[in-house]
Amino acid sequence: MKTIVLAYSGGLDTSVCVRWLADRGYRVVAFMADVGQGEPSRKAIARAKIAGASQVIVKDLRKEFAQEYVLPALQAQAVYEGTYLLATALSRPLIAKHLVEAAHAANAGAVGHGCTGKGNDQVRFEVSVRALDPRLEIVAPLRVWEFRSREEEIAYCARHRIPIDVTRKSPYSIDRNLWGISVEAGVLEDPWREPPLDSFQFVSPPERAPSKGEVVTVEFVTGVPVKLNGKRLPLVALIDALNRIGARHGIGRTELIESRVVGIKSREVYEAPAARILYDAHAELERLVFDRELLHFKQSLGPKYAELTYYGLWFTPLKAALDACIGFTQQRVTGAVRLKLLKGSCQVIGRRSPYSLYRERLATYSAKDQFDHRAAEGFIKLFGLPYEGSTH
Ligand code: ARG
Repeated sequence: MKTIVLAYSGGLDTSVCVRWLADRGYRVVAFMADVGQGEPSRKAIARAKIAGASQVIVKDLRKEFAQEYVLPALQAQAVYEGTYLLATALSRPLIAKHLVEAAHAANAGAVGHGCTGKGNDQVRFEVSVRALDPRLEIVAPLRVWEFRSREEEIAYCARHRIPIDVTRKSPYSIDRNLWGISVEAGVLEDPWREPPLDSFQFVSPPERAPSKGEVVTVEFVTGVPVKLNGKRLPLVALIDALNRIGARHGIGRTELIESRVVGIKSREVYEAPAARILYDAHAELERLVFDRELLHFKQSLGPKYAELTYYGLWFTPLKAALDACIGFTQQRVTGAVRLKLLKGSCQVIGRRSPYSLYRERLATYSAKDQFDHRAAEGFIKLFGLPYEGSTH
C-alpha cells in the first residue's frame, strides 16, 4: 500500500482530501503544522481519523517559522509589489520541508496538499518539495477531483459521515499564521467595492480604534527584535504581543490588486500588525546605522527577496546568496526605535543606536555646528562638473 503525507488544515477541502485519497488506495498520514494559526483543534484531529487517516501528526513549527522564515524576510525588508508582507508565502516552504521529513519518516512515496489550481500556494509547496526531494510524487486532489462546488464537497462528507462545521464557515477564504492573515474571495472579488467590516479578522477598523494612541519601543540586536517596551521576549511571544497591540490600533491592514505566479490578478486583503510595526522599526534602524551606499543597495534587495518568496523559490541558490549578504549587513542593526500607533497609522517617533551615524554637531543649524561649510564649495564644483553646459 502506498503511503501519502497530506498537508491537512482541518478545513473542508483537506478533510475531503483525506477520504478521497484513502478511496484511491493510499494510506493517508495527515500532517498538521502549527504556524500560529491557533492550535489545531481536537475536532480537526478527530475528523482526519474519521475521514480515514491512519495517522495524524501535529507539529508546533512556530519557533522555526519565526526564526528561519519570518526573520530573514524582515531583515530583507521583503515586500511584494510594495504592499504584501508575505505571511502566507513564508509559511509554505516551511510546511513543505516538514512534509518531506514526515514522508521520509513514514516511508511514504508521496505528499499531498489541498491547494487549488490557480493559486500561488500549489507552486510554493511543489517547487519546495521538489527542491528537497525530487523523487516524491506530489498529489493535488483539488486540481483533479470531481467536485465543482463547496456544496458537492459537503454532500460527499455527509455520504461518508465526516463531521464538518458548515455553520462556522466564513464568507471568505482565509489563511492565518503568526505573521499575518490573508483574506480573499466572496465580496472581495469586486475590486471596486470597499471591504466590508466583517472582512476584518482581528485588526480593528482604524475608525473604531481608540483616539488615544499608544507608543511602543522595539529593541533590536544584530537585526533581531529582542525587546518590546523594555521587556525581553522570545521572537514568537514578541510577535504575538505586537499583533495584539497593533490590532487594537488598527495597524497593518492593507489591500491590493496582486500579480499571482500563475498569471492572474487578484484582490487581496491582509492583516499583519506586528509585521508592519517591525518592518517600520527595522527599516528606520537601518537608515540610522547604514552609510548611504550600503543603505541604498540593501534597499534594492527587498523587492527581489519578496519575489523569490512569493514565487516559492525559497530553497534556491539566489535566496541563499541573498541571505548571506543580508546577514552580513545586520551586524550593526542594533538599537531601539519608538513608534506611535494611532488609528491605523504607525509612525516612527524616535530611534537610537550605539552604531548611529547621526552626528548632531554636523547636522545642527545651531551655533554648535562643526560642519565645514566652505568645503561644500569645492565639492559641488566637481560634483556638477560633468553637467556644465548640459541642456538636458
Ligand atoms: N495571495 C496570497 C499569497 O499568495 C494569499 C494566499 C492565501 N491563501 C488562502 N488560502 N486564502 O500569498
